[in-house]
Parts: sequence; structure tokens; C-alpha cells
Amino acid sequence: MDTRAPANPPLIDRFGRHVTYVRLSVTDRCDFRCVYCMNEQMTFLPKARILTLEEMALIGRAFVELGVTKLRITGGEPLVRQNVLSLFAELGKLPGLKELTLTTNGSQLARHAAALREAGVRRINVSLDSLRPERFRAISRVGSLDKVLEGIEAARRAGFEAIKLNAVPMRGINDDEILDLVEFAAERDFTVCFIEEMPLGEIEGHDRRTSCVPSDEVRARISERYTLLPTVERTGGPARYERIAETGTLVGFISPHSHNFCDSCNRVRVTTEGRLLLCLGQEHSVDLRRVLRTHPGELEPLKEAIVAAMAIKPKGHEFDLTAKPVLFRHMNATGG
Ligand code: GTP
Ligand code: 5AD
Ligand code: SF4
Repeated sequence: MDTRAPANPPLIDRFGRHVTYVRLSVTDRCDFRCVYCMNEQMTFLPKARILTLEEMALIGRAFVELGVTKLRITGGEPLVRQNVLSLFAELGKLPGLKELTLTTNGSQLARHAAALREAGVRRINVSLDSLRPERFRAISRVGSLDKVLEGIEAARRAGFEAIKLNAVPMRGINDDEILDLVEFAAERDFTVCFIEEMPLGEIEGHDRRTSCVPSDEVRARISERYTLLPTVERTGGPARYERIAETGTLVGFISPHSHNFCDSCNRVRVTTEGRLLLCLGQEHSVDLRRVLRTHPGELEPLKEAIVAAMAIKPKGHEFDLTAKPVLFRHMNATGG
């Protein structure tokens, strides 16, 4: 891929933060119903409201021409979107793009891993909250651990340069598996990342106030068995990493509550409806679908809208696990 510096001025917000990373959500649908993310009964967007893959490719192109170097395809579950591989193929051709990647629940990875690798994806992130089949089913409500493990194996065979497992530790639900997940990752030379649960959308039957396990606690549990060494390695996202001395494994911590990372935010996201969201934890947004549908196929109006949006990127999130979520949006509507 071309790594020349972009000709256009980069996207810089009011706080001097440079936006170089865009998360594109290609669907709000998912074949799982993870308890921290969704309710059992969900209403998804009708087709007419979601962007076509061609529209998404154009948005991706506009961002890359404005200096964005990393695009992550998200969902819901991105691999349930029909023909999503054609989007990877389109985006993969963009000069200036350094990384094209995705975050997946792994359920369809066995089918798609090789094609994703061929489309130029070098690194993938796969959610994995439990290694126990019944518990995995309970957390995802419908998911099959076997299928996900098959997908992860297929990814390994496909030869990705890095595979990162994402886990949301929940007290009394899967927090006794922190070391098992680390060991699973270590044995396969994967990275494992622990995410503090965020209050996005109201959810039933799961109490985020008591469930969220702070990163320092996760770290302490890992330290009971392993030596964690500091490292300055980054992957361009919000994770801080440490390395396990005994195995060389990278362990990531995403700590929106306990170690706020908004000061160094380099990201925006686009929902499957074409809403450019300037912060995961706020509602500030610009309707790119309107721009696209007023000027079909045109790049310039899109780029202008994106540049103008930098003026409303908020300073940071104000997540409060003790209050009712102020954001109605569930994670699947944003892609994280
Ligand atoms: P890398 O490229 O591997 O660094 O990936 P990433 O951590 O950026 O992406 P991933 O999709 O694996 O996201 C992991 C978690 O980080 C998810 O729960 C996301 O919601 C969360 N996350 C990503 N960006 C942000 C952000 O800007 N703010 C907050 N609060 N969480 C974020
Ligand atoms: N808080 C934290 N992480 C979440 N994810 C989904 N919902 C939440 C939430 N409310 C995680 C998924 C996936 C990533 C995109 O976000 O597990 O790994
Ligand atoms: Fe689907 Fe991911 Fe949400 Fe689970 S966390 S329900 S896999 S979008």
C-alpha cells in the first residue's frame, strides 16, 4: 500500500488532536446478543436507512484523502453484511491507507478468514469473553464457542500478522477466566485485551454498576501468575499494553473509566446509517448520508462535511456507570 503523506491538510480538532483512525460500521445487525452490548429483543435498522457498500467505500476514500491512515470495519457483526468482502477489496486499494482491519465476533470467520487475508487485512481483533461453551452461550445468549474457536483457528491458518482477542471481564460472570484467556492467547502467540464495560444503551438483566471490573484489578490478577513488563507499544487504538515476561504475550487494557484516554483520541466512527460520530460516548454527529444522497457519488461535499465536523469533536466521554446510561445507542449501533 502507498504510504505517501496526504496532499490535503490533516483532520485536526479544536484540541489539537489529529484524526487518523476511522471505524466504519457496516451493519447494526449481529448474530449474537452479548449481555453487555444488547438486549435479547432488538430492532435493527431497515435496509433503506443503511448505507450501500458503495457509499461506505466513498466515505472511506474521503477520509483517506484527508489523511486517515487506518480504517477498521465494525458492526454489529461486520461479517453478517452481505458482500462485505467487496468493501474490503475497494478500500484496500486506497493509496495512503496503511491499515485496513476489522473487529469481529468470530462466528463467520471460518468462512471468511482466508479471503480477508487476501484482501490485505494483516491484523484482526476477535471478541472472546469465555472459553467455556455454556458460559459463552450465556454471555452471547445465542453464540457457539465451537464456531468462534473454529474461526480463530482459520484466522491462524490464514496467516494474519497479529490476532487480538478482546474480552469484557464481568464480575461474577467471567472474571474467573482472566488467566485462562491470557494462557489461551499466550499458547497461540495472540494478543489479549481486556475492556472496561461501557454504559452504551440500556440493557436488561445485566447490571453494569456491579459488573465492570477495573483494569487495575485485571492486571493484579494476571500479576499473580505472570510478570508484567511495561511497554510503550501501541496499535493506534485506545489500549495500553504490557508484556508478559514469561511468554512474550502482549496484554492490552482499555480503561475508559479508570485511565481516561480521551486526550490522545485519534478516532471517529461512522455508523451504518452514515452518521459521523465524533466520540463514542457523546452524541455530537454529522449526517454524511444526507450529504451523500444530496450529491451522489461526489467526494468533495463529503470531504467538506468531514473537515467541518472536526469543530464539534467533543473533549471526551462522560461515562458514569452509576447512573442510567445517557446514551440511548447500544454498542452495535456504533461499532465501538
Ligand atoms: P487496535 O487497532 O488493535 O488498537 O484496535 P481497537 O482497540 O481500536 O479496536 P477494537 O474494535 O478492538 O476495540 C476495542 C474496544 O475499544 C471496544 O470496546 C471499543 O468500543 C473500544 N474503543 C475503541 N475506540 C474507542 C474510543 O474512542 N473510546 C472509547 N471509550 N472506547 C473505544
Ligand atoms: N462496553 C465495552 N465493550 C463492549 N463491546 C461491546 N459492547 C461493549 C460495552 N458496552 C466490545 C465487544 C467487542 C468490541 C467492539 O466492543 O466485545 O470486542
Ligand atoms: Fe454482537 Fe459484538 Fe454486540 Fe456481541 S458485542 S452482540 S458480538 S455486536
